[in-house]
Amino acid sequence: MATDMNPLLSLDARYYTDPAIFEIESRGLFASSWQFAGHASQLQRPGDYFTFEMAGESLFCVMDRDGAINAFYNVCQHRAHQLVQGSGRANVLTCPYHAWSYDLGGQLRAGPNIKAVEGFRREDICLTKVPIENFCGFLFVNLDPDARPMDEWFPGVRSELAAHVPQIEQLRPLEWVEIPETCNWKVSVENYSECYHCTLNHETFATGIVRPETYDIQPQGHCLRHTTECQNLDAMSYPIDLSANDYAGVYSSWFLWPMFSFQVYPGNLLNTYHWRAVDADHVIVWRGWYSIDGVESETVRQLAVQDRETTVEEDIHLVESVQRGLKSRGYRPGPLVMDPACGVNSEHSIAVLQSWMRDAADRMGTTAAG
Ligand code: FES
Ligand SMILES: [Fe+2]
Repeated sequence: MATDMNPLLSLDARYYTDPAIFEIESRGLFASSWQFAGHASQLQRPGDYFTFEMAGESLFCVMDRDGAINAFYNVCQHRAHQLVQGSGRANVLTCPYHAWSYDLGGQLRAGPNIKAVEGFRREDICLTKVPIENFCGFLFVNLDPDARPMDEWFPGVRSELAAHVPQIEQLRPLEWVEIPETCNWKVSVENYSECYHCTLNHETFATGIVRPETYDIQPQGHCLRHTTECQNLDAMSYPIDLSANDYAGVYSSWFLWPMFSFQVYPGNLLNTYHWRAVDADHVIVWRGWYSIDGVESETVRQLAVQDRETTVEEDIHLVESVQRGLKSRGYRPGPLVMDPACGVNSEHSIAVLQSWMRDAADRMGTTAAG
């Protein structure tokens, strides 16, 4: 007999396999959420810029004369040629098509023969700006001009991160590890967001770093906050000065919906996950590793290698198998394991994540997703 106590079922397979749903996410979710653009240290002096892609758009960040960082769509306001490529430094931004030039604040400065045009108002022409935030040195942009600030999306995260990584403003990227996965971005993000699979699949992580029985993941606005107690830190592969600060012995992580995560290892060691969705069946995960002022660090390099060879490698096989399974005619979405006490063997975090995923797909395309 059916009751209203039916278990909550996992998301329907088409959310992970249907290119039409990926299209809806690209136009909707990816264009109206905070997405990682790059690290502030990539822009050292006025005129420094770098380009990046998100939600099918080319964009760039540039430092202006006052040291402020702006983000713009990478398109000339004359006849739409792409303005800049790659990264570099420039006093003015000059379009390669007809040499219209813009100042570092995006305002049109000059163009060949524009004075010949009666009524041409240079001051009316400006590159199209995109909201940008510097979040502890990490630059995030949001294509929604009315985007709510990151502190509303992710309450408390900025100050928690600063406390867990006291030197966070001095960090520079030391190493990027690129991990292509043949699966939908949501399969990879879900896999990151539960530790129900950890004990069975991540021996190094579950026996070397965390105590899985204490692992928990709770929503904090649109952040999923991972907390755990750690193993005896004497067994860690690098030295940790537990007296350095209150958080020196802590592992913690902050997943920022939809595609970024800050993760801190004992010793206040920050590393990041940045998912880039390619299409319905492919995602690239960028693991970022950092050190103070970007100085060489054997510890960080070794951690990056160990992480790639263990946790990352183990997860690739899991997520790719799931993607194949989601395409099977034999798959019927199963019940999520919702333990009212939460904890490591509960999938309550997946229920939260899947409700965000369902909203994002259904908000714009009830018919396509229905
Ligand atoms: S399109 Fe840029 S100057 Fe013409
Ligand atoms: Fe995993």
